[in-house]
Order: sequence, then C-alpha cells, then structure tokens
Amino acid sequence: MRTVAILSMIAVLGGCASTNAGAPATSASGAHASLEARSGSQVAGTLQVSAMTDGVHVGGRISGLAPNSDHGFHIHDKGDCSAADASSAGGHFNPGGQPHGKIGASPHHLGDQMNIHADANGDAMVDAHFAGVTLGSGQANDVMGRALVVHADPDDYTSQPAGNAGKRVACGVITK
Ligand code: CU
Ligand code: ZN
Repeated sequence: MRTVAILSMIAVLGGCASTNAGAPATSASGAHASLEARSGSQVAGTLQVSAMTDGVHVGGRISGLAPNSDHGFHIHDKGDCSAADASSAGGHFNPGGQPHGKIGASPHHLGDQMNIHADANGDAMVDAHFAGVTLGSGQANDVMGRALVVHADPDDYTSQPAGNAGKRVACGVITK
C-alpha cells in the first residue's frame, strides 16, 4: 500500500515537472527595460529581456542616437537610473571579478556587450546575447533588477574599467 502511494506521488510530481518545463519560457521568465534619456540626451527605447538556456537575450529598438554612430551598451550592477547622469547604476555587472573586455574574445564582465550601431535615422536595433547570466534565478549571475545602459561613445573593449565609452545617455532597469 505504502509503496503504491509513493509511486503514484512520484508519477504526479513527475507530471508537474514536465508540464512546467514544457511551458513557454517567455511567460515565466520574460522581462523588459524601459530606457530613459540621461545626461541631457534624447535617447529612449524599450527592450525585451528573455531567459535562454545559456544566458539572456536583449532585443528591441533604441532611438534618439546620433546618425551612423556606435555606442557602448552594458548591464550595470545597480538597478538605479535615478541620477541625471545615470551614475547611480554603478559599474558594469561583474560578479566574477573579471576585467572589462570583449565578449567572446577576452576576459570580460558578465555585463559587457558589443557596441550597438545607430542607422542614418539614429535608431539602433538591439539583438544582444549575454552569456553566463540568468534572469530571476536569485543567483549571483542574476540580471533581474539591474540596469541596461547606453553610452555616448563606443566601447573600445580594452580600457579599464568600462571601455572609455563616455557619458551614460540612456538607462533602464530590467523588470518583470
Ligand atoms: Cu555601461
Ligand atoms: Zn565591462
């Protein structure tokens, strides 16, 4: 009797687990960031933030940039965009204690990313993958509640601690 009851409990739990795993990842793990202008810029945009098996994807459009320009784009440590220059967002998200660098090519912060490029209209389509981070896990590499920041200048992927990317021209906190 007891064995039968335990076995049916396992069956029920197993069914629940597989149902959750099969649910769309977007409904459980989707988030967004509404970027607002900072440092006197006109830059703004809404980005969708999605959990993936090996990281987090950020996509969407940012407008108000200089035509045909490149801009540093990172996840910063603190989810606080309140300062007029967005300095309240702190430095790059760096739970691993790495130097600033280029993703896929050198040691780098988990918040580091390739520059975004604005077209002739000053719009940048963002299609960025942050490897090694999670969304809403509560772990050290969780980016939920942290800030996405756009800079005035391109990231040189080399200068410490932040790629010499200049002022912070837009900032938005990653939220559900
Ligand atoms: Cu930055
Ligand atoms: Zn960095």
